[in-house]
Amino acid sequence: MTGSRDRSAAPVRLGRIGGDGIGPEVVDAAAQVVDAVCGERIEWVEAEMGWRTFERGGRALPEATVEILEGCVGALFGAVSSPSHAVDGYQSPIVELRRRLGLYANVRPLCSGAVDAVVVRENTEGLYAGRERWEREGEVAIAERVISRRATDRIVRFACELALSRAARRGKGARLTVVHKANVLRLSDGLFRETSLDVVAGFPEIEVEEQLVDSMVYRLILEPERYDVIVAPNLYGDILSDAGAALVGGLGVVGSANCGERFCLAEPVHGSAPDIAGRGIANPIAAVAAASLLLERVGMRDAAARIRNVLTEHRSAGPRTPDRGGRATTEQALADLLARV
Ligand code: NAI
Ligand code: MG
Repeated sequence: MTGSRDRSAAPVRLGRIGGDGIGPEVVDAAAQVVDAVCGERIEWVEAEMGWRTFERGGRALPEATVEILEGCVGALFGAVSSPSHAVDGYQSPIVELRRRLGLYANVRPLCSGAVDAVVVRENTEGLYAGRERWEREGEVAIAERVISRRATDRIVRFACELALSRAARRGKGARLTVVHKANVLRLSDGLFRETSLDVVAGFPEIEVEEQLVDSMVYRLILEPERYDVIVAPNLYGDILSDAGAALVGGLGVVGSANCGERFCLAEPVHGSAPDIAGRGIANPIAAVAAASLLLERVGMRDAAARIRNVLTEHRSAGPRTPDRGGRATTEQALADLLARV
């Protein structure tokens, strides 16, 4: 057990939002791993959002949840279910929460064997700015893609700082790959590229390369081990992170973090998995990986590293849940994780 450091400090307050489906099952498992590593240093505060919350109270993201989270430095979130058809008054709580808490960076590490990369995705603009309209009486649909100097500067700075802290931890040089398509999207990706190059000029210790998004996907699949930190506008980052997740073991094992200046919301990459909810066979690895990201982000680096090591051991030698070809239950996987702390 660690837990000796920072003992004098006040506990770190973290929100805990299970959500729907397997969300509560995997968040509960991840919180147990965190508690085993951190002891009394974490104070969890329970909050709710999602589909069940909407059905009960008419709001997918209750004000009370936002207020609770505003009193925390971060939160661990499971998943929410979204109805497959539009429902009056229902809006994805996670999208709203990202906006309310200013979570502008989406961080997704890709780790497995020799691969140790991380995709940093701009989380607030690009094609997700929500500016869509019809033209010619519904015969043409237009989506505006927004790239601003401010948001690009902020995301690239974030990526550079992350690259430096990873370099310090890994004892290796830092490398940043800037992804764009400025040869075609000359104004928007041109601005992303130009702003990125301005920012990285302030980080001479980072080796910087540019890569067009199409060849980026190709090379990420062929030689994933050559990448360190990859920074990309919203949609490119979204696609790269999912392609990357497939490369390193899939939905059940990959975590991600939505980060802002004052808050980090970490979550497994998977959804609420209604097909297996309540059966006790959800893989807890992705949620535990998310918890490790959360601890790293709130400054508990030793605890985060410890959880990463536990995960590496568990993935190579522990019992596997059915999604990984085994027969273990969530409880058995959790017991193995806890035994490795
Ligand atoms: P999903 O990720 O929930 O499930 C896809 C497949 O992977 C299913 O067969 C599921 O059983 C399996 N799976 C996922 N996580 C697993 C785990 N930890 N252990 C073992 N197997 C696992 O994606 P799907 O089915 O497209 O969406 C289900 C619901 O989740 C939908 O309502 C969707 O809107 C929501 N969703 C929510 C997200 C979030 O809250 N951030 C993200 C993605 C989907
Ligand atoms: Mg996605």
